[in-house]
Amino acid sequence: MQYEVVLPAAGSGKRMGAGQNKLFLQLNEKPILIHTLEVFQSDEDCTGIWLAVKPEEREYIQGLLERYHITKVKGLPNGGQERQHSVQSCMKAMQQVEIVLVHDAARPFITKPIISRLVGAAQEKGAAIAGVRAKDTMKKVRDGVIVETVDRESLWMIQTPQAFRFKLLQQAENHAEEQGFLGTDEAMLVERLGHQVHIVESTYENVKMTTKEDLIFGEAILRQRNN
Ligand code: CTP
Ligand code: MG
Repeated sequence: MQYEVVLPAAGSGKRMGAGQNKLFLQLNEKPILIHTLEVFQSDEDCTGIWLAVKPEEREYIQGLLERYHITKVKGLPNGGQERQHSVQSCMKAMQQVEIVLVHDAARPFITKPIISRLVGAAQEKGAAIAGVRAKDTMKKVRDGVIVETVDRESLWMIQTPQAFRFKLLQQAENHAEEQGFLGTDEAMLVERLGHQVHIVESTYENVKMTTKEDLIFGEAILRQRNN
């Protein structure tokens, strides 16, 4: 089942504290952004990649695409103030397709089997997102004091990719824009429409490169995969 992917890449990586867009940092001598792009470049079901970028980084990124032979990028629209704006900017630039995937450019370890399951579930049910079961005991805390221990069985840590029928995500984004609502993921916008969002169980390897420690996990994952 074919799909196109939206990769928001227009962040600034404040929590990484590298003084530059964290996506340009290298894992095994290759930029994080390229690791992510290569997954979709080599997935034959992926028919197009849309990258939201900062205007001042567009030229540099285009250079990387050439250097690493990433040929599926159909457009690099300007990102926005928040991640949601960046995703929406890509959606507005795209032609309508059946299934669209949204995936953080900062998650380089996503694999083809998870992508396929997400695309299949989105085609069948409209909306499906990747997640893993919470490992730790989870408690709700207010003013430094525990209010309640939340039942871990019902808790999932949500990742990307998030896959949708294109029209459903478009409708959800328009609705959020009209209401001035900002979500932290696309699923929230779809949930607000009252549409069910399904979970596809992912892996703990699909981490987002967010802080310095994540780079250490990242190097370790690559080492293990190369053995
Ligand atoms: N992103 C984006 N546009 C924004 C903010 C984020 O396209 N206005 C992208 C990032 O480039 C990243 C993904 O969304 O690929 C996930 O965001 P996050 O991990 O929060 O990255 P940053 O916003 O760059 O990092 P930080 O929040 O630490 O500044
Ligand atoms: Mg951010």
